[in-house]
Amino acid sequence: MLANAPDFAIVRHPNEWIAQVLQFDVLIIGSGLAGLSAALKLADHKKVAIITKKSLLEGASSRAQGGIAAVLADDDSMAAHIQDTLTAGAGLCDLTATRHVVEHGKQAIDWLIAQGVPFTRDAGNDSGYHLTREGGHSHRRIIHTADATGMAVQETIAAKAMAHPNITLLEHHIAIDLITGRKLGQPDNRCHGTYALNSVSGEIITIAADNVILATGGAGKVYLYTTNPDTSTGDGIAMGWRAGCRVANMEFIQFHPTCLYHPHAKSFLISEAVRGEGGILKLPDGTHFMPWHDKRAELAPRDIVARAIDFEMKKRGLDCVYLDISHKPASFLQEHFPTIYARCLALGIDISRQPIPVVPAAHYTCGGLVTDLQGRTDVGNLYAIGETAYTGLHGANRLASNSLLECLVFADAAARDILDKPHGKTPPLPQWDESRVTDSDEQIVISHNWEELRRFMWDYVGIVRTTKRLQRAQHRIQLLHEEIHEYYANFHVTADLLELRNLVLSADLIVQSALARHESRGLHYSKDYPDSLPLAEPTVLAPPGYGVA
Ligand code: FAD
Ligand code: SIN
Repeated sequence: MLANAPDFAIVRHPNEWIAQVLQFDVLIIGSGLAGLSAALKLADHKKVAIITKKSLLEGASSRAQGGIAAVLADDDSMAAHIQDTLTAGAGLCDLTATRHVVEHGKQAIDWLIAQGVPFTRDAGNDSGYHLTREGGHSHRRIIHTADATGMAVQETIAAKAMAHPNITLLEHHIAIDLITGRKLGQPDNRCHGTYALNSVSGEIITIAADNVILATGGAGKVYLYTTNPDTSTGDGIAMGWRAGCRVANMEFIQFHPTCLYHPHAKSFLISEAVRGEGGILKLPDGTHFMPWHDKRAELAPRDIVARAIDFEMKKRGLDCVYLDISHKPASFLQEHFPTIYARCLALGIDISRQPIPVVPAAHYTCGGLVTDLQGRTDVGNLYAIGETAYTGLHGANRLASNSLLECLVFADAAARDILDKPHGKTPPLPQWDESRVTDSDEQIVISHNWEELRRFMWDYVGIVRTTKRLQRAQHRIQLLHEEIHEYYANFHVTADLLELRNLVLSADLIVQSALARHESRGLHYSKDYPDSLPLAEPTVLAPPGYGVA
C-alpha cells in the first residue's frame, strides 16, 4: 500500500478542524520508529496526530541496516548485553536506563514480530531467527531483515498506523515551535501543542494536544558528511531547548566507520554487520591495520574503529580505506547483504571480488533532550523519545543496534505514562502571527549558511578536536545565529530556514558541550585533553530561564 502511495498524501479527519486549530489527545512530531510505535501503542485509547516533515517513510529509521540488539539467544544474557553497552559507553552510561532498555528488549522484539515484521529466519538458531554480530557485542544478538531492517520495520508499522481509525497523519508538515505555558504567559510551563508549516501550501496551522511527543530524530545533518537523511536537522532538540528543556551529552556525535566513498553515492552506509560477518579493513596496499589499534580489531566499538581510520587516512594522506569481504562466497553476500551488494554493483564495485572504499561519517547523536525512564522532559506534558532524547543509555558512545531498541522501549514507556494520566485540558491557543513579516528575496543566504555551517562543523568539530578549533566554530556559530535570528524575525518562514535555525542551535549545543568536557572519552577526543578523568559525568546544559518559576 505504501509503495503505491502518492508523493503527497494528507490523511485528515475533517471534523477535527476547529477554526484552523486541530485538537488531539496526543500529538507526535516525527514518523520514525519512535513516533510510529508510540502512535500504535496509544491509538486504541487516544486520538493521535502524527505530523512529519517529509513523506511518511523518510527518516533514519527506514535506512537502518544492521538490525536491533536484544537478548534472544539461549547462550546470551542480559548481564552480557548490559556490560557490552556500558563498555562501549566508556563509563558514561546510566546503569538504570541501560538495565531498563536491555530488560525490555525481548518484549520490544516480540511486539514487532506480532505486528508482522519479516525478520530473517534461521531454523538452526534457538530463537528461530538469524542473529548477526556487530562491533562491541560479545554475542550474536542483532535480529535483522537481511541488510534492510529499518525499511522492513517501518513499512510494517506504517501500514498499521495508516489503517488505524484514531490516527491522523499529516505528511509534509514541519513543526516550527512548541506552544508552551511560558510563551502564553502562564505560571506553569506545560506544552500545549505546536505551530506547523505545510511545506507544500505554505499554510501555517496550530495543533493543540494534551500531550506532545517529540520523535524528530537526530542532528547528523549538522556535518558535511553523514549517513543521515535530510530530515535529521536537530529540530526536536532545538524546539525542546527553546521550550525550556535541558540537553545532555551533545558532544558525543558518533561517526560510523564505514560510509561508502564514491562520487555518486550520497550518504550510503556499509553496515557494521559486514565487519561482524568477517569484513576486514585494509589500507590501499592491502595491509590489515586494525590490529595495530585494538586487539578486537574490526569488532572494537565504533569510536575506536572510526578514530583508527581517521588516523591512518590523515597520516598517509588517503581519501579512503577499504573494507574487504571478497573472501566470502558471492551467494553468502547476496543473501546477507542484498542491498549493499546491489548498490555497490550499480556503482561498479563487485563486493564479492573487490574491496569497498569507505570513510567515516557522522551517524548518530548520542545526546539530546534529558528525559526520565518514561520519556518525560523538563516541560510538563512534553515527551522526547528516540534519537531526540538523552536517556542515559548510550553514554559516551552508542553500542551498535541499541538505537532502534531504545526507540521501541521508550515509545512504549511514554505511551504507558500518557495512558495512565487523567484527561488534560488545553487552553485556547493563539494563531501564528505573520502580520509583520514579508517574503524574502535573499534565499541564497539560507543555502550559503547551510553549506558554511556543515563544512566548518566537519573541519573543526569532527572526530579529533582541539580547543582552538572548537572556539573557532563557536565564533562562526554566533555570527550565523545572529543572521538567522534577524531573518526569522523579518521574513515568512520556509522549511529550509526552520531547519537551518535548528541546525545552528544544535551545532551550538554540540560545541558548548565539547568545550565543557576537559577530557577525552568515547566519541569525544580532544588533543588538548587526551586522558580521561577519573570520574565520568554527563554534560548537562540548561536553557536560559531554566528553573525560574
Ligand atoms: P527518525 O527515524 O530519524 O525519524 C524522525 C522523524 O521526525 C522523521 O519522520 C522526520 O521527518 C520527522 N521530523 C523531524 N523534524 C521534524 C519537524 N520539525 N516536524 C515534523 N517532523 C519532523 N540503529 C540501530 O539500532 N540499528 C541499525 O541497524 C541502524 N542503522 C542505521 C543506518 C543508517 C543509515 C542510519 C542513518 C542510522 C542507523 N541507525 C541504526 C540509527 C537509527 O536508525 C536511528 O537512531 C533511529 O532510526 C532514530 O529513530 P527516530 O524515530 O528517533 O528518528
Ligand atoms: C549498521 O548497520 O552498521 C548501523 C547499525 C547502527 O547504527 O546501530
